[in-house]
Amino acid sequence: MYVPENVVTNDYLTKFMDTNDEWIQERTGIKERRYAHRTKETTTTMGVEAAKIAMERAGVTPQDIDFIIFATLSPDYYFPGCGVLVQRALNMKEIGALDVRNQCSGFIYALSVGDQFIKSGMYKNILVIGSEKHSFGLDFNTRSRNISVIFGDGAGAVVLQPTEDENRGIISTHLHSDGHSAEILAMYNPGTHANFWQEGLADFDDAEIGEMFESHTMIDKAQNRPYMDGPEVFKKAVVKFPEVIMEALNKNGYTTADIKMLIPHQANLRISHFVQQRLKMKDDQVYNNIQRYGNTTAASIPLALCEAWQEGKIKEGDLVCLAAFGSGFTWASALLQW
Ligand SMILES: CC(C)(COP(=O)(O)OP(=O)(O)OC[C@H]1O[C@@H](n2cnc3c(N)ncnc32)[C@H](O)[C@@H]1OP(=O)(O)O)[C@@H](O)C(=O)NCCC(=O)NCCS
Repeated sequence: MYVPENVVTNDYLTKFMDTNDEWIQERTGIKERRYAHRTKETTTTMGVEAAKIAMERAGVTPQDIDFIIFATLSPDYYFPGCGVLVQRALNMKEIGALDVRNQCSGFIYALSVGDQFIKSGMYKNILVIGSEKHSFGLDFNTRSRNISVIFGDGAGAVVLQPTEDENRGIISTHLHSDGHSAEILAMYNPGTHANFWQEGLADFDDAEIGEMFESHTMIDKAQNRPYMDGPEVFKKAVVKFPEVIMEALNKNGYTTADIKMLIPHQANLRISHFVQQRLKMKDDQVYNNIQRYGNTTAASIPLALCEAWQEGKIKEGDLVCLAAFGSGFTWASALLQW
């Protein structure tokens, strides 16, 4: 894992918007988050820092990596994706690089794709990265306070390799989507939609050709910033998290009591507590670190996984469940034997 040095407290955010520490802690559990250096760090550079540690721990060098999978919603460029920037930054061979755009579920989707490549025998060392630099594009104004206080920056990475050991590895992954609520948690612009799906998402100029990518009105109305209907996300999340966790357990003949550690995507501490209660799991079976990092979207699961492992809470042979829900909506789970 890699997180930027700069710690941003809830009190600091009150300089820019009408909010307060008590509200943020009570509704989200977040005490502080990290923000990347404005100009010296990017989503890719943070991902690269996490990747270096993952490769070192896996005992491989950048030259050993066969494939890169990069999950993010805050890429360095609109295109190309961050995967190729990692290939360049680490002087890797001319290997494939794939970018995954599944927001909060991005890391599990990426892990699942990597798992299939490993199990098919196509690749032997896959670098999977989840990284976000949310701080570059949040709307630091009261109008967006429900969303801007939640997100933080950071990165996590893993190296996937094949094993002969039948009691180790990714047991199964479960991926889902329902696009009916795509506009509930989204950043609409810049985009090609031109209000096709929903009126009022983009104000663009009347022109003969083009001129829809960005307009001054879009910028003035914050239509180029993330939007979230928090309560709607919350309602769906507390249903889909338990559902996809139970799907993974049922598929493999396990119960919640068998889980050594559940690593939920760090969306909101209240969501995690709700899921824990609904599944009747104990406090020491669920890992949360949103209090210190906020919601880091594609990075949140590898960040939490890394800290749980570093703190000795995950040991070889333990059953670990990863679960995520977010924009799309997409949701997913993965069951691992550590
Ligand atoms: C965003 C979220 C924390 C808001 O909490 P909530 O209890 O649902 O609050 P609401 O949105 O209903 O807003 C309640 C009030 O708090 C206010 N409020 C919103 N953000 C605020 C902030 N940062 N500071 C202070 N007040 C705030 C609202 O304006 C509203 O005020 P009103 O009643 O005067 O209109 C919550 O809905 C949530 O966590 N949802 C899930 C979000 C999530 O997980 N997103 C990540 C994707 S996986």
